[in-house]
Amino acid sequence: MFHQPGLPLPARTDVDAIIPLVSQRVGEAELAGLPSLRVVANYGVGYDNIDLAAAARRGIVVTNTPDVLTDATADLALALLLTAARRLREGLDLARSGEWDGWHPTQLLGMGLQGRVLGILGAGRIGVATARRAAAFGMEIAYWNRSASPAMESEAGGQRIEDLETLLAAADVVSVHLPLTAETRGLLDAARLASMKPGSILVNTARGAIVDQEALAGVLGSGHLAAAGLDVFENEPEIPEELRDLPSCVVLPHLGSATREARQAMWDLAAANARAVLAGEEPLTAVSLPST
Ligand code: 8YV
Repeated sequence: MFHQPGLPLPARTDVDAIIPLVSQRVGEAELAGLPSLRVVANYGVGYDNIDLAAAARRGIVVTNTPDVLTDATADLALALLLTAARRLREGLDLARSGEWDGWHPTQLLGMGLQGRVLGILGAGRIGVATARRAAAFGMEIAYWNRSASPAMESEAGGQRIEDLETLLAAADVVSVHLPLTAETRGLLDAARLASMKPGSILVNTARGAIVDQEALAGVLGSGHLAAAGLDVFENEPEIPEELRDLPSCVVLPHLGSATREARQAMWDLAAANARAVLAGEEPLTAVSLPST
């Protein structure tokens, strides 16, 4: 059954597998309406839309789609980084306005990336893939993660900084690649955003709720941050007007994994996970495997 994004899951007694989207909450109430359910095969790598404890209590397996969207999402993080650093939104607006009055030596000057510090929050697959790309642009990589990441260090020359405030004060660009959990919700709050390096840039392709959106509009509006590139928002599809209106803020409608290749591979993996569980086999990419 393919279900309309954004709508709550309907209650049904004949459904034994679902493939929910990031926009669909799968909590206690939804699970109670699906008494035959055996597997929630999430169409996405992030699974903050799913109540894992509620699924475990009912003996329901939860799976996700890691790896297959890593490159697509890292490409988009770089696209946002470049768009923000080189002020492409303002350039596009000017070019399309019909009011461009010609080349100026100081027109829309942005940030050169070479030798700049990219602070990566979260050294999972997408964080590492983003760091690798940025290193190819000549950026120095610093990262903040609860443990050391050999991949970040060997593939991108990343240097671990254990203290978040130290990283925020040092980075010219901060890119968020953390899952949304109780610990990361609101992590970049007003105080932490204010502690970012003056003139720096924030990129978020992870989850909107990791950043305090109102405080972000404040530090962008005051010019403390030079720019932001955002693909995700706390209450999608709502994008706060203050962020949409700021010329220094580039907003996208959650396009991280939106390539034909990634979306097909996500579908194939989600379907293979669901089939495996229904056939009594181990799923390929389990998030939680309750022992029933
Ligand atoms: C997906 C994402 O497009 O995988 C994720 O966690 O945020 C997106 O890239 C989304 O999950 C689709 O449901």
